[in-house]
Formats: sequence, C-alpha cells, structure tokens
Amino acid sequence: MKKTTPHWLAIGVLAVLLLSGIYKVVVVGNTGGLANDGRTKVMLTAAERQAVLAEMRHLLLASQGVIEALANDDKVAVNSAAGAVGSAAVSTMDFSLRAKLPLSFKKLGFATHQAFDEIADMATADAPAKLILLKLASTMKNCIACHESYQLSLRAMESEQRGRVVRDSRRWSGPPTPITLKVLCQVPARHCCFVQLIDSSSNS
Ligand code: HEC
Repeated sequence: MKKTTPHWLAIGVLAVLLLSGIYKVVVVGNTGGLANDGRTKVMLTAAERQAVLAEMRHLLLASQGVIEALANDDKVAVNSAAGAVGSAAVSTMDFSLRAKLPLSFKKLGFATHQAFDEIADMATADAPAKLILLKLASTMKNCIACHESYQLSLRAMESEQRGRVVRDSRRWSGPPTPITLKVLCQVPARHCCFVQLIDSSSNS
C-alpha cells in the first residue's frame, strides 16, 4: 500500500496558504504600514479612495441633517437624513474594495451605518430628541475612532502624477522668468516629488 504522508503534507501546505489568504483578505486588508502621523495606511486606487471619501461626505451631511432636524423638531427629516446613510447605502460596495479594508475598519464602518438605521427607526418611533441626539453623539465616536486609526493612501498616485507638467509662477531673484517643473515621480505619503526644471524662457 502506498504511503499517504506526502498528500497530507500537500493538503497541509495548501490549507495554510488558503487560511493565510483568507486572513489577509478578511482581517488585514490592503494596508501599507504606518503613516508619519502613526495612522495605518489603507492602500487604495484613486477611484476607490474617491468612493470612500464620497461616502464620508454623505456621513457628514447626514450628521448635520440629523442635528438640524432635531433642532427643528422635525422627526420626518431626522428619518430621511439618517436613512440616507443606513446599511442599505453600503450594500452595493465593491467586493474588491471591501477586501482591501482591514477588519476593524469594516466593523467600525458597518456599525456606523447600522447606527444611522437605528437613528432613523428612533425618529419613526418618535423617540425623545434628547435620546436621538445621544445616539448620534455615541455614533460619532466611531467617526473619531476610525479617523484616529486610518489614513487612505494612494499607490497609484505615483504613476498618475508622472509626466504631469506643473507651471510655477514663482520668480527667481534673477531674470523674471516663470519656471516650469515636470513631475517625474511623487512619493505620496511624504508630500514630496522629484521634478525636472524645464527652461521656459524661450516659449513664454
Ligand atoms: C471605518 C472608518 C471610518 C468611519 C467610521 C468614519 N470615517 Fe470618515 N474618513 C475615514 C478615513 C480613513 C478618511 C480619510 C482620512 C485620511 O486619509 O486622512 C475619512 C475622511 C472623512 C472626511 C473627509 C472627506 C473628504 O472628502 O476628504 C469626512 C468629512 C469624514 N470622514 C466624515 C466622517 C463622519 C461624519 C463620520 C461618522 C458619522 C465618519 N467620517 C466615519 C474613515 C472613517
């Protein structure tokens, strides 16, 4: 009878690879170490970053809307402001973007959208304004916690910026000639770039 040990070894190796792949996608996400300010960098494409930031602006809009509606004693408006960023709003999120977000980011994000569902429900149930305001205040602790922990970084930035020609209107102490800088390569997290000085005195 043949020995089966090598098979188990292969299965074991595959299982470890599979589990570490799942761990990477579900727990770690596409993170790129710590930024200068100590926050974890989440590496996204320009379009994904735009999508997350747009969602953020909706959250800000909703928070403002809930506060204003409560001040106006308008529970219908509270319901519609909060409902706009409820969990239904994130159910359409791209799978590959989801996979890039670390688990604690996803948890905080989903908890925030669920909390807005609850705020919308409280408004429908005509809960006291003070209770709804307290719920919003505790929900906004999620905003604070996540902003303290994460930064959205662009890996694609470097290639997007390369070759872009930037005109700089600063003038040297010498001849009053505007200079033109060509961005060769940019280091996104450090706000610096390598540039080439183009002599524009002849064509300006
Ligand atoms: C799960 C994490 C997370 C949660 C929860 C969260 N944010 Fe954000 N938010 C971020 C990250 C990350 C950024 C980008 C920060 C950076 O790159 O410096 C951001 C950026 C923003 C911006 C800037 C948008 C822009 O266009 O530049 C606003 C406004 C904002 N968040 C509002 C909110 C509000 C309001 C809440 C809560 C109701 C909230 N966020 C909850 C992660 C989160």
